[in-house]
Amino acid sequence: MGTVELAPGIHWVGVKDPSRRLFDGLIPLPHGTSYNAYLVKGADKTALIDTTNPGFEEELVDKISQHTEPTSIDYVIMNHAEPDHASACGRILSLAEEAILVTSAKGKEAAMMYFGVPEERIMVVDEGSSIDLGGKTLKFVDAPWLHWPETMFTFVPEDRVLFPCDFFGSHIAYGEFYADEFGDGHTLELAKLYFAEIMMPFRKPAMKAIEKVKALDPKLIAPSHGVMYREPKLIVDAYTDWAGEKMKRKVLMVYVSMWGRTEHMVKVLREALISKGIEVQVFDLTVTGIGEVAKQLVDSPILVIGAPTVLGGVHPVAAYATLLTKTLRAPTKYAAILSSHGWSGGAVKQLSGLLEGTKIEVLDIIDSKGPAGDEEIQRILNLADGIQTKLDELP
Ligand code: FEO
Repeated sequence: MGTVELAPGIHWVGVKDPSRRLFDGLIPLPHGTSYNAYLVKGADKTALIDTTNPGFEEELVDKISQHTEPTSIDYVIMNHAEPDHASACGRILSLAEEAILVTSAKGKEAAMMYFGVPEERIMVVDEGSSIDLGGKTLKFVDAPWLHWPETMFTFVPEDRVLFPCDFFGSHIAYGEFYADEFGDGHTLELAKLYFAEIMMPFRKPAMKAIEKVKALDPKLIAPSHGVMYREPKLIVDAYTDWAGEKMKRKVLMVYVSMWGRTEHMVKVLREALISKGIEVQVFDLTVTGIGEVAKQLVDSPILVIGAPTVLGGVHPVAAYATLLTKTLRAPTKYAAILSSHGWSGGAVKQLSGLLEGTKIEVLDIIDSKGPAGDEEIQRILNLADGIQTKLDELP
């Protein structure tokens, strides 16, 4: 695969990895991913922005070679130290013996610790720092915790191109390069999935960064995963929605059922909510990927977990989804638990424990011995009323 010119003197020299199926040993990648790196050539100096994942070093070197001698690179910009973008910095620095690694103060620590970059080959930059390449400037923007403490953005003001590394990314390895090559919102759905898994825990830093991005007014956003945005408003507005305080009037219900008792309780609540005009998304966890659950959490203020007791505790599939909600620091404000058991309970105690330490308020826990009877059904209907009230109170 060749390279792509984004603007005069600025080229995508990244790698597409369509066969990768998992990230962080956790996140499914149904469409693979890409490790986007960018070469910026000024009249005097050349910079490489981000590198690539382990195993793709020579493909990166080959792409760079299509535009310049890799030995002539002057700066390697490390926006983020995670190995999918930074692990090849050692390879590039060994080829370009005069090159300097440019990163944040915390990035410097990471570069020395993870990649053994000598201190004398590292330049620390912060908000407002810039490097003149000759007719092109690299301007650096502090953007910590997106999603590691050292993260930063690089901006080329002459071409108004923003390189935000993981921010605005998506795990896509298609042949297309730009979001506007897709007309159906497909890439935005994948960007939302990515946001859920990577950026959702960091909504406050994300909102700060969005304000900085708006002030820069980029013409092109070029993240280090997935597609680029020639119409930046699309992804900036989407991130503003996903990271902001305003949430949908929506209930997410996830459940697992062994003999249909818990599922029946879920269906009763679902019907009651729908009759009130409330949007409800229901997912059977035995056939739903964990990525879909994460994506739905982005804009669901209310989570209902349905899980039976099995062997004296919660069904492990439901435990996993609940722990994921906690780990990803989902913006869930309220939760409810629907459960059933035969001869002994135990699921609700474990589920409640998993929600401890979050800001989620539990509206009700309904645990039925055997099939839900009149009493449990009435409590479910009352829960639907309570959910409606909470949704009406949301900003
Ligand atoms: Fe794509 Fe945080 O690395």
